[in-house]
Amino acid sequence: MDFVRIGMMSDIPKGGMKGFVIDGKKILVAEVDGKYYAMDSVCSHMKGPLEKGTLAGKDIQCPWHGSIFDVTTAKVVGGPAMRDLVSYEVKSENGEVFVKL
Ligand code: FES
Repeated sequence: MDFVRIGMMSDIPKGGMKGFVIDGKKILVAEVDGKYYAMDSVCSHMKGPLEKGTLAGKDIQCPWHGSIFDVTTAKVVGGPAMRDLVSYEVKSENGEVFVKL
């Protein structure tokens, strides 16, 4: 797939994240130490909204039952979720953020 423009870098708070729905797919984009990462935002445990969770460094904690995912890889680092999610390539150009879906 191609890169899709999702918004401006300024839309995504430093050290924070924001959720997007693109073609019906729910993703989040997070900023960690000046780099942007994108991954599915629907928790693999019981579909909790990860974009409403908390981001500490590169760890996102699901607001529902506390599973933790590494936002740089979309892999589970703490249960109860057991299935990794999908991460997406991100690039930024001229202040805009693009995600390859
Ligand atoms: S839905 Fe995310 S931990 Fe349960």
